[in-house]
Amino acid sequence: MKPFCSAKKTALALAVLLICLAVKAAETFTLGELWPDNRGQHIQAHGGGILKVGDTYYWFGEDRGQNLDWRSCHVSCYASTNLSDWKFCGDVLNMVAPTNFGRRMILERPKVFYNPTTKKFVMYFHMDNGRYQAASVGVATCDTVAGDYKFLKYFRPLGHESRDIGQFVDDDGSAYLIFEDRPFGFRIAKLSADYLSVEKEICLIPEHMEGGALVHYNGLYYVIGSHLTGWNANPNLYATAKSLAGPWSEFKDIAPPEKNTYGAQSTMLLKIVGTKTTSVIFMGDIWNADNLGDSRYLWLPLEIGGGKMTLPAPQKWSLDITTGEAKIGK
Ligand code: DGJ
Repeated sequence: MKPFCSAKKTALALAVLLICLAVKAAETFTLGELWPDNRGQHIQAHGGGILKVGDTYYWFGEDRGQNLDWRSCHVSCYASTNLSDWKFCGDVLNMVAPTNFGRRMILERPKVFYNPTTKKFVMYFHMDNGRYQAASVGVATCDTVAGDYKFLKYFRPLGHESRDIGQFVDDDGSAYLIFEDRPFGFRIAKLSADYLSVEKEICLIPEHMEGGALVHYNGLYYVIGSHLTGWNANPNLYATAKSLAGPWSEFKDIAPPEKNTYGAQSTMLLKIVGTKTTSVIFMGDIWNADNLGDSRYLWLPLEIGGGKMTLPAPQKWSLDITTGEAKIGK
Protein backbone atom coordinates (compact mmCIF):
# COMPACT_ATOMS: atom_id res chain seq x y z
CA MET A 1 0.00 0.00 0.00
CA LYS A 2 2.68 2.48 1.03
CA PRO A 3 4.65 2.67 -2.28
CA PHE A 4 1.32 3.15 -4.13
CA CYS A 5 0.42 6.10 -1.85
CA SER A 6 3.75 7.81 -2.31
CA ALA A 7 3.52 7.28 -6.09
CA LYS A 8 0.11 8.91 -5.94
CA LYS A 9 1.52 11.81 -3.94
CA THR A 10 4.36 12.27 -6.40
CA ALA A 11 1.93 12.25 -9.31
CA LEU A 12 -0.25 14.80 -7.51
CA ALA A 13 2.75 17.05 -6.77
CA LEU A 14 3.80 16.81 -10.41
CA ALA A 15 0.30 17.70 -11.58
CA VAL A 16 0.23 20.74 -9.27
CA LEU A 17 3.63 21.80 -10.57
CA LEU A 18 2.50 21.44 -14.17
CA ILE A 19 -0.64 23.50 -13.48
CA CYS A 20 1.49 26.19 -11.82
CA LEU A 21 3.81 26.24 -14.83
CA ALA A 22 0.85 26.46 -17.20
CA VAL A 23 -0.62 29.35 -15.22
CA LYS A 24 2.78 31.08 -15.20
CA ALA A 25 3.06 30.68 -18.98
CA ALA A 26 0.17 33.11 -19.32
CA GLU A 27 0.91 36.49 -17.80
CA THR A 28 -2.02 38.39 -16.40
CA PHE A 29 -2.57 42.10 -16.86
CA THR A 30 -4.44 44.51 -14.67
CA LEU A 31 -5.68 47.80 -16.02
CA GLY A 32 -5.46 51.44 -15.16
CA GLU A 33 -3.58 50.78 -11.91
CA LEU A 34 -0.02 51.63 -10.94
CA TRP A 35 2.24 49.28 -12.91
CA PRO A 36 5.45 48.68 -10.97
CA ASP A 37 8.74 47.93 -12.73
CA ASN A 38 11.52 45.73 -11.31
CA ARG A 39 12.36 48.52 -8.83
CA GLY A 40 8.78 48.76 -7.61
CA GLN A 41 8.34 52.14 -9.31
CA HIS A 42 5.43 52.99 -11.60
CA ILE A 43 6.48 52.48 -15.22
CA GLN A 44 7.22 55.79 -16.91
CA ALA A 45 6.77 55.06 -20.60
CA HIS A 46 3.84 57.24 -21.60
CA GLY A 47 2.89 57.79 -25.23
CA GLY A 48 5.24 54.92 -25.93
CA GLY A 49 6.05 52.26 -28.43
CA ILE A 50 7.53 48.79 -28.45
CA LEU A 51 10.41 47.25 -30.37
CA LYS A 52 11.10 43.51 -30.27
CA VAL A 53 14.74 42.43 -30.43
CA GLY A 54 15.20 38.65 -30.31
CA ASP A 55 12.89 37.43 -27.55
CA THR A 56 12.93 40.72 -25.70
CA TYR A 57 10.42 43.51 -25.97
CA TYR A 58 11.72 47.05 -25.37
CA TRP A 59 9.20 49.66 -24.32
CA PHE A 60 10.24 53.28 -24.95
CA GLY A 61 8.17 56.19 -23.71
CA GLU A 62 7.96 59.51 -21.96
CA ASP A 63 9.50 59.43 -18.51
CA ARG A 64 7.36 61.97 -16.70
CA GLY A 65 8.60 61.03 -13.26
CA GLN A 66 11.56 63.38 -13.26
CA ASN A 67 9.90 66.42 -11.71
CA LEU A 68 10.59 68.44 -14.84
CA ASP A 69 7.84 70.82 -15.93
CA TRP A 70 4.91 69.58 -18.04
CA ARG A 71 6.78 70.23 -21.28
CA SER A 72 9.76 68.10 -20.48
CA CYS A 73 10.50 64.44 -20.17
CA HIS A 74 13.30 62.04 -20.82
CA VAL A 75 12.89 58.96 -22.97
CA SER A 76 12.84 55.82 -20.87
CA CYS A 77 13.49 52.24 -21.89
CA TYR A 78 12.17 49.07 -20.24
CA ALA A 79 12.78 45.42 -21.18
CA SER A 80 10.53 42.38 -20.84
CA THR A 81 10.16 38.91 -22.28
CA ASN A 82 6.49 38.53 -21.32
CA LEU A 83 5.10 42.09 -21.67
CA SER A 84 4.02 42.02 -18.05
CA ASP A 85 7.22 42.21 -15.97
CA TRP A 86 9.39 45.16 -16.99
CA LYS A 87 12.96 45.94 -16.08
CA PHE A 88 14.00 49.58 -16.15
CA CYS A 89 17.00 49.95 -18.47
CA GLY A 90 17.41 53.68 -17.88
CA ASP A 91 16.57 56.99 -19.47
CA VAL A 92 18.08 56.59 -22.90
CA LEU A 93 17.65 60.13 -24.19
CA ASN A 94 18.06 63.00 -21.81
CA MET A 95 16.35 65.93 -23.42
CA VAL A 96 17.61 68.54 -21.01
CA ALA A 97 21.26 67.70 -21.65
CA PRO A 98 22.96 70.71 -23.27
CA THR A 99 24.12 68.52 -26.16
CA ASN A 100 20.47 67.77 -26.89
CA PHE A 101 17.88 70.48 -27.14
CA GLY A 102 17.24 71.87 -23.71
CA ARG A 103 14.43 72.35 -21.29
CA ARG A 104 12.25 74.70 -23.32
CA MET A 105 11.47 72.11 -25.98
CA ILE A 106 8.72 69.49 -25.92
CA LEU A 107 9.42 65.83 -26.53
CA GLU A 108 6.49 63.43 -26.87
CA ARG A 109 5.65 59.95 -28.10
CA PRO A 110 9.11 58.43 -28.75
CA LYS A 111 9.23 55.35 -30.99
CA VAL A 112 12.29 53.25 -31.88
CA PHE A 113 12.95 51.35 -35.10
CA TYR A 114 15.81 48.94 -35.80
CA ASN A 115 17.43 49.28 -39.20
CA PRO A 116 18.85 45.87 -40.20
CA THR A 117 21.07 47.37 -42.92
CA THR A 118 22.82 50.09 -40.93
CA LYS A 119 22.39 48.10 -37.68
CA LYS A 120 21.36 51.33 -35.96
CA PHE A 121 18.48 51.90 -33.60
CA VAL A 122 16.64 54.99 -34.78
CA MET A 123 14.34 56.90 -32.46
CA TYR A 124 11.65 59.25 -33.72
CA PHE A 125 9.65 61.58 -31.51
CA HIS A 126 7.39 64.59 -31.66
CA MET A 127 9.60 67.58 -31.05
CA ASP A 128 8.15 70.99 -30.50
CA ASN A 129 8.64 74.35 -28.89
CA GLY A 130 6.67 75.32 -25.78
CA ARG A 131 3.74 76.58 -27.84
CA TYR A 132 3.48 73.54 -30.11
CA GLN A 133 4.36 75.70 -33.12
CA ALA A 134 7.50 73.90 -34.37
CA ALA A 135 5.39 70.79 -35.10
CA SER A 136 8.39 68.66 -36.06
CA VAL A 137 9.85 65.20 -35.64
CA GLY A 138 13.14 64.66 -33.84
CA VAL A 139 15.56 61.84 -34.63
CA ALA A 140 18.14 60.24 -32.34
CA THR A 141 20.27 57.15 -32.97
CA CYS A 142 22.22 54.52 -31.09
CA ASP A 143 24.27 51.40 -31.85
CA THR A 144 22.62 49.50 -29.01
CA VAL A 145 18.98 49.18 -28.16
CA ALA A 146 19.05 50.50 -24.61
CA GLY A 147 20.98 53.71 -25.20
CA ASP A 148 22.38 56.20 -24.83
CA TYR A 149 20.75 57.74 -27.89
CA LYS A 150 22.33 60.76 -29.54
CA PHE A 151 20.09 63.51 -30.83
CA LEU A 152 20.67 64.04 -34.55
CA LYS A 153 18.21 66.54 -35.99
CA TYR A 154 14.63 67.70 -36.20
CA PHE A 155 12.54 68.61 -39.20
CA ARG A 156 9.01 68.80 -40.57
CA PRO A 157 8.42 65.51 -42.43
CA LEU A 158 8.07 66.24 -46.15
CA GLY A 159 7.54 69.86 -45.13
CA HIS A 160 4.33 69.11 -43.22
CA GLU A 161 3.36 69.88 -39.65
CA SER A 162 3.76 66.83 -37.45
CA ARG A 163 2.59 66.46 -33.86
CA ASP A 164 1.62 63.00 -32.51
CA ILE A 165 3.53 60.23 -34.25
CA GLY A 166 3.03 56.48 -34.44
CA GLN A 167 5.39 53.81 -35.77
CA PHE A 168 4.58 50.96 -38.10
CA VAL A 169 6.71 48.18 -39.58
CA ASP A 170 4.95 46.16 -42.24
CA ASP A 171 5.28 42.39 -42.69
CA ASP A 172 7.83 43.02 -45.49
CA GLY A 173 10.01 45.01 -43.06
CA SER A 174 9.25 48.47 -44.51
CA ALA A 175 9.10 51.17 -41.87
CA TYR A 176 6.53 53.97 -41.73
CA LEU A 177 5.56 56.93 -39.61
CA ILE A 178 1.99 57.98 -39.13
CA PHE A 179 1.83 61.61 -38.11
CA GLU A 180 -0.77 64.24 -37.39
CA ASP A 181 -0.67 67.18 -39.78
CA ARG A 182 -3.10 69.56 -38.07
CA PRO A 183 -4.42 71.42 -41.15
CA PHE A 184 -4.94 68.25 -43.21
CA GLY A 185 -5.20 65.05 -41.17
CA PHE A 186 -3.27 61.80 -40.69
CA ARG A 187 -0.34 61.18 -43.01
CA ILE A 188 1.32 57.82 -43.53
CA ALA A 189 4.87 58.16 -44.86
CA LYS A 190 7.68 55.72 -45.60
CA LEU A 191 11.09 56.14 -44.00
CA SER A 192 14.26 56.28 -46.13
CA ALA A 193 16.44 53.18 -46.45
CA ASP A 194 18.59 54.27 -43.49
CA TYR A 195 15.46 55.41 -41.56
CA LEU A 196 17.06 58.80 -40.93
CA SER A 197 14.55 60.73 -42.97
CA VAL A 198 10.96 60.56 -44.09
CA GLU A 199 11.10 59.74 -47.76
CA LYS A 200 7.73 59.36 -49.35
CA GLU A 201 4.12 60.07 -48.58
CA ILE A 202 1.95 56.99 -48.94
CA CYS A 203 -1.40 58.44 -47.98
CA LEU A 204 -3.22 61.38 -46.49
CA ILE A 205 -6.27 60.38 -44.48
CA PRO A 206 -8.24 63.61 -44.24
CA GLU A 207 -9.45 63.12 -40.66
CA HIS A 208 -8.39 65.40 -37.82
CA MET A 209 -7.09 62.80 -35.41
CA GLU A 210 -4.03 62.08 -33.27
CA GLY A 211 -2.54 59.19 -31.27
CA GLY A 212 -2.23 57.38 -34.61
CA ALA A 213 -1.28 53.70 -34.84
CA LEU A 214 -1.42 51.00 -37.50
CA VAL A 215 -1.47 47.23 -37.70
CA HIS A 216 -1.51 44.80 -40.62
CA TYR A 217 -3.70 41.83 -39.71
CA ASN A 218 -4.94 39.04 -41.97
CA GLY A 219 -4.41 40.98 -45.17
CA LEU A 220 -6.05 44.18 -43.99
CA TYR A 221 -4.56 47.40 -42.58
CA TYR A 222 -6.23 48.90 -39.52
CA VAL A 223 -5.56 52.47 -38.46
CA ILE A 224 -6.62 53.86 -35.11
CA GLY A 225 -6.62 57.33 -33.60
CA SER A 226 -8.31 59.71 -31.21
CA HIS A 227 -10.02 63.05 -31.59
CA LEU A 228 -8.11 66.19 -30.65
CA THR A 229 -9.01 66.82 -26.99
CA GLY A 230 -5.62 67.44 -25.38
CA TRP A 231 -5.04 65.10 -22.46
CA ASN A 232 -8.75 64.28 -22.12
CA ALA A 233 -10.07 60.96 -23.34
CA ASN A 234 -12.49 60.72 -26.25
CA PRO A 235 -13.96 57.92 -28.37
CA ASN A 236 -11.09 56.46 -30.41
CA LEU A 237 -11.92 55.42 -33.97
CA TYR A 238 -10.58 52.98 -36.53
CA ALA A 239 -10.67 52.51 -40.29
CA THR A 240 -9.45 49.76 -42.63
CA ALA A 241 -7.88 49.47 -46.07
CA LYS A 242 -6.47 46.76 -48.30
CA SER A 243 -3.47 48.94 -49.05
CA LEU A 244 -1.69 51.55 -46.93
CA ALA A 245 -2.32 53.98 -49.76
CA GLY A 246 -6.08 53.47 -49.32
CA PRO A 247 -8.87 53.86 -50.06
CA TRP A 248 -9.65 53.82 -46.34
CA SER A 249 -13.08 52.93 -45.01
CA GLU A 250 -15.14 55.30 -42.91
CA PHE A 251 -13.97 55.66 -39.30
CA LYS A 252 -15.94 53.69 -36.71
CA ASP A 253 -15.92 53.52 -32.92
CA ILE A 254 -13.67 50.92 -31.30
CA ALA A 255 -15.89 50.90 -28.19
CA PRO A 256 -19.28 52.37 -27.22
CA PRO A 257 -18.63 56.12 -27.71
CA GLU A 258 -20.05 57.07 -24.31
CA LYS A 259 -17.22 55.08 -22.69
CA ASN A 260 -14.56 57.45 -24.11
CA THR A 261 -12.22 54.53 -24.84
CA TYR A 262 -12.44 53.69 -21.11
CA GLY A 263 -10.36 56.79 -20.37
CA ALA A 264 -7.51 55.89 -22.71
CA GLN A 265 -5.89 57.25 -25.87
CA SER A 266 -4.22 55.02 -28.44
CA THR A 267 -0.44 54.95 -28.76
CA MET A 268 0.28 51.62 -30.51
CA LEU A 269 -1.29 48.47 -31.89
CA LEU A 270 1.08 45.69 -30.91
CA LYS A 271 0.95 42.50 -32.97
CA ILE A 272 1.98 39.31 -31.17
CA VAL A 273 2.63 36.49 -33.61
CA GLY A 274 2.64 33.27 -31.60
CA THR A 275 2.97 29.58 -32.41
CA LYS A 276 -0.81 29.10 -32.33
CA THR A 277 -2.34 32.47 -33.11
CA THR A 278 -1.78 36.18 -33.62
CA SER A 279 -3.14 38.70 -31.16
CA VAL A 280 -3.28 42.46 -31.43
CA ILE A 281 -2.92 44.47 -28.25
CA PHE A 282 -4.36 47.96 -27.92
CA MET A 283 -1.80 50.06 -26.02
CA GLY A 284 -3.34 53.22 -24.62
CA ASP A 285 -2.48 55.96 -22.17
CA ILE A 286 -4.84 57.04 -19.42
CA TRP A 287 -3.45 60.55 -19.04
CA ASN A 288 -3.54 62.44 -15.78
CA ALA A 289 -3.15 66.04 -16.95
CA ASP A 290 -2.57 67.31 -13.41
CA ASN A 291 0.26 64.87 -12.81
CA LEU A 292 1.48 63.36 -16.06
CA GLY A 293 3.89 61.03 -14.24
CA ASP A 294 0.88 59.41 -12.60
CA SER A 295 -0.74 58.62 -15.97
CA ARG A 296 -1.76 54.98 -16.27
CA TYR A 297 -1.97 52.46 -19.09
CA LEU A 298 -4.78 50.53 -20.71
CA TRP A 299 -3.52 47.49 -22.60
CA LEU A 300 -6.17 45.11 -23.89
CA PRO A 301 -6.35 42.45 -26.61
CA LEU A 302 -8.57 43.63 -29.43
CA GLU A 303 -11.32 41.64 -31.06
CA ILE A 304 -10.14 41.99 -34.63
CA GLY A 305 -10.88 40.48 -38.01
CA GLY A 306 -13.02 40.79 -41.12
CA GLY A 307 -12.69 44.56 -41.10
CA LYS A 308 -13.91 44.98 -37.51
CA MET A 309 -11.94 46.03 -34.48
CA THR A 310 -13.44 46.21 -30.99
CA LEU A 311 -11.89 47.19 -27.70
CA PRO A 312 -13.51 45.01 -25.03
CA ALA A 313 -14.58 46.46 -21.67
CA PRO A 314 -11.56 46.56 -19.35
CA GLN A 315 -11.13 43.41 -17.32
CA LYS A 316 -8.26 41.20 -16.32
CA TRP A 317 -6.71 39.32 -19.20
CA SER A 318 -3.80 37.02 -19.82
CA LEU A 319 -1.34 36.47 -22.61
CA ASP A 320 0.72 33.43 -23.52
CA ILE A 321 3.63 35.11 -25.22
CA THR A 322 4.73 31.84 -26.86
CA THR A 323 1.43 30.76 -28.38
CA GLY A 324 0.14 34.31 -28.88
CA GLU A 325 -3.14 33.42 -27.15
CA ALA A 326 -4.77 36.27 -25.27
CA LYS A 327 -7.61 35.39 -22.89
CA ILE A 328 -9.91 37.99 -21.53
CA GLY A 329 -11.74 37.56 -18.23
CA LYS A 330 -10.80 35.32 -15.32
C1 DGJ B 1 -2.75 65.00 -27.08
C2 DGJ B 1 -1.57 64.25 -27.58
O1 DGJ B 1 -1.98 63.00 -28.01
C3 DGJ B 1 -0.52 64.13 -26.50
O2 DGJ B 1 0.56 63.40 -26.98
C4 DGJ B 1 -0.16 65.49 -26.11
O3 DGJ B 1 0.39 66.15 -27.21
C5 DGJ B 1 -1.38 66.26 -25.65
N1 DGJ B 1 -2.36 66.29 -26.69
C6 DGJ B 1 -1.04 67.67 -25.26
O4 DGJ B 1 -2.21 68.37 -24.97
